[in-house]
Amino acid sequence: MIYQNLKKLPIIFLFGLLVFVSCSKKTIPTITERSSDPPPPVSPVINVKPDLDAGKTIFANQCSRCHGLPEPNKYNTQRWESILKIMIPRARLDRVQEVHVKAYILANAAK
Ligand code: HEC
Repeated sequence: MIYQNLKKLPIIFLFGLLVFVSCSKKTIPTITERSSDPPPPVSPVINVKPDLDAGKTIFANQCSRCHGLPEPNKYNTQRWESILKIMIPRARLDRVQEVHVKAYILANAAK
């Protein structure tokens, strides 16, 4: 009986040690030196030349996924601006595609 309990002693001891080790504070390593410079901040303006042909393709492919393809000349520039604010994120276009699509639609918008 006593012998049986003694056999468990190392296990209890190890378990206690495990709890102690896992609960002890971990130190945050400090960065002593940087091996490279941090990346430059991304500019909010992107430098891409609007391409109407690319815009037309993106428009035809991406803007007909949820509804019929609207005619660009159905709305004037101002109306398109507010529609595109909603539809471009819906179509999940990236910022380059956005430039092309906007250019294509606005170039063909109603006057
Ligand atoms: C994820 C689905 C989806 C995609 C992709 C999408 N649209 Fe739409 N669109 C809608 C829904 C839904 C409506 C109905 C109006 C609303 O809910 O705002 C709508 C309405 C419109 C309207 C009518 C707006 C009005 O005021 O009558 C136009 C124009 C339009 N979309 C243009 C576009 C263009 C351009 C694109 C591509 C850049 C596009 N949509 C991509 C879902 C989508």
